[in-house]
Amino acid sequence: MHSFISKTTSQTKRIAKKIRETYPNHNLILLSGELGSGKTVFAKGIGALLGIDERHIKSPTYTLIHEHASTPKLLHADLYRLQAKDEIIMENINLWIEGKGIAIVEWPEVALEDFQKPHLHITIEKNGEDERLITVIEKNDERSGI
Ligand SMILES: Nc1ncnc2c1ncn2[C@@H]1O[C@H](COP(=O)(O)OP(=O)(O)OP(=O)(O)O)[C@@H](O)[C@H]1O
Ligand SMILES: [Mg+2]
Repeated sequence: MHSFISKTTSQTKRIAKKIRETYPNHNLILLSGELGSGKTVFAKGIGALLGIDERHIKSPTYTLIHEHASTPKLLHADLYRLQAKDEIIMENINLWIEGKGIAIVEWPEVALEDFQKPHLHITIEKNGEDERLITVIEKNDERSGI
């Protein structure tokens, strides 16, 4: 488990990039944290690494999923509005990863135990107006050894 303190949005984006570079095989990233904690800011940091204009990464609240044609391609989901686990969305995410894409999921709690491994479960806690505690937990697939 790794923890980071961020005091600005740019630090959060930098931490996101560093985490992605530290765990290049973890192509699924789950982001937990209360409303306004910085999950989408974190996603913008990952997007920047892939060359995606950060204005194109926003909370996909109404669509649930946004797909970005970067290399590798990025799927950005926000499950806040889901009342229950949705098999079609889970299958979409699985196929996306199998197709060499990266997937970021905000509000993964509705299906937390069901996401494929390996993945990173990142929690962002608000420690005040601008300070955030960012914690990374690696969930590894015992079978593949990573
Ligand atoms: N250190 C920080 N890191 C990230 N965001 C910060 C930080 N300090 C202040 N903020 C502010 O917190 C807010 C984070 O918004 P963001 O949309 O990323 O939250 P979110 O977790 O995605 O929320 P939601 O659950 O509604 O999707 C922004 O307004 C941002 O400017
Ligand atoms: Mg968001």
